[in-house]
Amino acid sequence: MVAAGHDPSEETHTIMAKILVIYHSDTGNTEKLAKLVAEGAESAGATVELVKAGDFDIDAAGAADGIALGSPDYFSYVAGEVKIIFDRIVYDKRFHGKPYAGFGTHGGGAKVLEVLEHLAHSCKLEAVAPGVLVKNAPEGEDIDKAKALGKALAEAVG
Ligand SMILES: Cc1cc2nc3c(=O)[nH]c(=O)nc-3n(C[C@H](O)[C@H](O)[C@H](O)COP(=O)(O)O)c2cc1C
Repeated sequence: MVAAGHDPSEETHTIMAKILVIYHSDTGNTEKLAKLVAEGAESAGATVELVKAGDFDIDAAGAADGIALGSPDYFSYVAGEVKIIFDRIVYDKRFHGKPYAGFGTHGGGAKVLEVLEHLAHSCKLEAVAPGVLVKNAPEGEDIDKAKALGKALAEAVG
């Protein structure tokens, strides 16, 4: 039923993709990277929420159009808080095929992104682009790469 005087052809459709940028960070490096990914996604028109891995809400993430996940390298693996997320979503169909972008920081070992991408693939998340890996805090070209990753995620869901 169309209301009297309402012309549907005059409607403007704004697609507001919702993206969650979920990360763990103890000393701030991964948080800086998360903020850059968020900035890139916002620049492409997405609505973005930064979420600490410890505050992960499976329903909010399941309802999001896309998720970015970031972790520091802890003992050549993801941080425990991030691993718990994968343990929880692995059999949840809301995450199967969901657009995803991964990012990580390390102190010289550089293994975390490989682990992150493996876990994401195992959980059937759909990587929109290769992840971004940074030694310590992002600087120089890391900044552009992180923003480009967020933008790619927003464009994939948009
Ligand atoms: C418990 C712990 C284990 C770590 N293990 C590694 C490691 O195996 N390889 C590595 O390259 N860096 C390792 N690091 C260094 C961190 O990955 C690096 O400093 C990271 O950027 C910290 O991120 P954050 O500032 O977001 O907490 C470790 C740090 C901590 C606290």
